[in-house]
Amino acid sequence: MVDPFISQNPVCPVSIYDVEKADVILVTHEHNDHLGDGVELAKKFDAYFVSIYEITTKASYMGVKKVMGMNIGGTANVEGLEVTMVPAFHSGFPVGYIIKHGGVSIYHAGDTGLFSDLKLIGELYKPDVALLPIGGHFTMGPREAALAASWVKPKVVIPMHYNTFALIKQDPDAFAKLVKERDQGIEVKVLRPGEALTYP
Ligand code: NI
Repeated sequence: MVDPFISQNPVCPVSIYDVEKADVILVTHEHNDHLGDGVELAKKFDAYFVSIYEITTKASYMGVKKVMGMNIGGTANVEGLEVTMVPAFHSGFPVGYIIKHGGVSIYHAGDTGLFSDLKLIGELYKPDVALLPIGGHFTMGPREAALAASWVKPKVVIPMHYNTFALIKQDPDAFAKLVKERDQGIEVKVLRPGEALTYP
């Protein structure tokens, strides 16, 4: 799981009691809408709690047994996942993750503004799937995220971090149009809350 924001999330269709299993929980930063129920779920399922060092230290104090503190640029093997921590521009000890498993590479950007090193993430990790924030106000908006997608060059991009609150209201189809204008080769997959994508 990445950023399990469930119990306080106004658009999440399930409760934390519906979660049946978690092996690895990756947290991108300490804001409530990302850390969410991460500590509670890690304790309940004895899952690995992965985050930047400062946040895992707090999680340990809160009783999480299995923590994997990392820092930017590093790669760790966690329960068979190859996890690389990459930069994000935001507050609250922000990071993104490259998650590799079974020949598939996923980039989860966390909360971030646009930054040109996204090109390096594309060049070095060649993600198959990228999750990019499009909500604006606290992160990139659709205009910036479309440019980010063209730099990261995933096969599939999933917009995230929008329409949870009034401040981050956006039209994901407008984002899809902007991505297509920049790169016809990137498929935009808009997921509704609760919907899943199996890749490939
Ligand atoms: Ni945030």
